[in-house]
Amino acid sequence: MRSWAAVVDTAHAEVLRRQLKELRLLRPDLRVARRDGEVWFPLTGPPSAQPEIGRIVEAEFEPTDAPPLTSYRDHVDLTPAERATLPRSFDVVGDIVLIRLPETMSDRALAIGEALLRFVPGARVVGWDKGVHGPERTHTIERIAGEGDFRTWYRENGLAIRVDLERAYFSPRLAREHALVAAEVGAGEAVYDLCCGVGPFTLTIAAAGRAASIVAVDANPQAIELLGTSLARLPRRPPVTAIVDRLESFLPSAGRVQRVIVNLPLEGIKYAASVGATVAAGGVLYYYIVADRTDVTGAQERLAAGLPDPGAWKCVDRHVVHPYSPRADLVAFRFHRGDA
Ligand SMILES: C[S@@+](CC[C@H](N)C(=O)[O-])C[C@H]1O[C@@H](n2cnc3c(N)ncnc32)[C@H](O)[C@@H]1O
Repeated sequence: MRSWAAVVDTAHAEVLRRQLKELRLLRPDLRVARRDGEVWFPLTGPPSAQPEIGRIVEAEFEPTDAPPLTSYRDHVDLTPAERATLPRSFDVVGDIVLIRLPETMSDRALAIGEALLRFVPGARVVGWDKGVHGPERTHTIERIAGEGDFRTWYRENGLAIRVDLERAYFSPRLAREHALVAAEVGAGEAVYDLCCGVGPFTLTIAAAGRAASIVAVDANPQAIELLGTSLARLPRRPPVTAIVDRLESFLPSAGRVQRVIVNLPLEGIKYAASVGATVAAGGVLYYYIVADRTDVTGAQERLAAGLPDPGAWKCVDRHVVHPYSPRADLVAFRFHRGDA
């Protein structure tokens, strides 16, 4: 296996070994090699400075019986304090890796990015995710390692989805939701995918092949353009109309359909009345909301109270999709409309 390595003549090998051990740079999963009177020590990552003795190279090594490296943090030389500060997890979207780093780690960003490039199979570029902003929920991203931009094809539920993480919202953490909703759409049903982004719900429902029509709406023209690119890759022409519009102008003149999806988690609740009015009798409404972990029932009650004809609705499912912040979760609510 290929690895960074420190190489020194045999006479100085023990001194260097002790230094590397102290700096936590020695790789336990690869065997130290002896070649042409020199000792080759495999390293967890490129050292931030040239060692006082020896030289730094990249080379092939035999594996030891030690367990393999299990975290990208094993591939970079970190003090214990730095290691504790770094997040364990990161997102992978196709060949893009996104990680949220504390600002205090900015001088280590390159080494961390390169560690992620080595650790994640197929990774092309690593971005420092500086958060999601504005009504279009686009990421601000700083490239810290690798090459190219943040456009890629992402594969999810057997589908290819065109994404551009700097220009339109996309989360790889919703794949299960896209599949769950698509599996419930019945033959001949009409669907609204409101705030569709690059259209993962629409694409998954279209690929399932049972919906008679899907109208996908988003205020961000770049999201709708990306959806068009993905739709063109589907084997059969799907019954999808993708519209650039704001909910405020789309909803008042929208007809009623069997299934409506709203994924605007921070402020979507304010559209409950006009969204609810588009659900036909016997239809289903899927609402995604960020809710305080201690008040999920309160969030459900506020959402239900905002729907038109409050007595007509029954919440038939509610589940946590993923944690959103230390205190809040992204929660999926499914309401059934009994009459209208
Ligand atoms: C959290 S993203 C959801 C994207 C998509 N449904 C998904 O699952 O990946 C929210 C989307 O709502 C769109 N949006 C925000 N405010 C809107 C509005 N008033 N009318 C229509 N779309 C809006 C944003 O452009 C963004 O694409």
